Amino acid sequence: MRDSDHPSNHGQSRSGSGFNRRDFLKGSSVGVAATAIAAAAHDAAAQEKGAAKGVVAAKPTTLKLEINGKSQTVTVEPRVTLLDVLRNDLNLTGAKEVCTTTNCGACTVIIDGKAALACAKLAIECVGKKITTVEGLGTGKEVDDVVKCFVKHDATQCGYCTPGFVVATRAFIDAHPGAKLDEIRKGLGGNICRCGTYDGVAHAALECAAAKKGGK
Ligand code: FES
Ligand code: FES
Repeated sequence: MRDSDHPSNHGQSRSGSGFNRRDFLKGSSVGVAATAIAAAAHDAAAQEKGAAKGVVAAKPTTLKLEINGKSQTVTVEPRVTLLDVLRNDLNLTGAKEVCTTTNCGACTVIIDGKAALACAKLAIECVGKKITTVEGLGTGKEVDDVVKCFVKHDATQCGYCTPGFVVATRAFIDAHPGAKLDEIRKGLGGNICRCGTYDGVAHAALECAAAKKGGK
């Protein structure tokens, strides 16, 4: 899974208007499959080697991750996803675990300025990168403008998809200040809301995008 495959990164690394949800799903599944195959091959080889020596192959490894401007140290097996580290090891539960197959966007975080799906990233891949979760948006004293706009435009119902939408919106409008409504709908097309808040989300993003263009 490449960071550029998240729809909110549309335009940052792809040119033209040919990006659509089909590309997103296709890219996602190819990336996940490639990762799974590589991991399986690695595991098989390691297990074979380990079995010969009577040891377990994939040992927990200590990783330093930069999350929301703080250095965090975790000790996890190399197969553990960034999403599991956030939720299970660091108690950062804003990114939600819904599909775990790159199809819903509920786990969206920002990695090095681009939206990314935390369920499709191994934690070990994220060493040396700057990770921002929904908990890291805003200044600490002030909530992020995207959150304010979501409230104003009633862009949430059960709220389960909302953190992913907020993060994806932040990444999208940072990359596309002044984006129009149709661009926003397309850019956030990888995030799914079962309650149907799409209109509120789109109008919240539209206001934020206009404010961003105006220098806010
Ligand atoms: S939980 Fe990651 S995309 Fe659905
Ligand atoms: S507000 Fe319920 S899933 Fe989106």
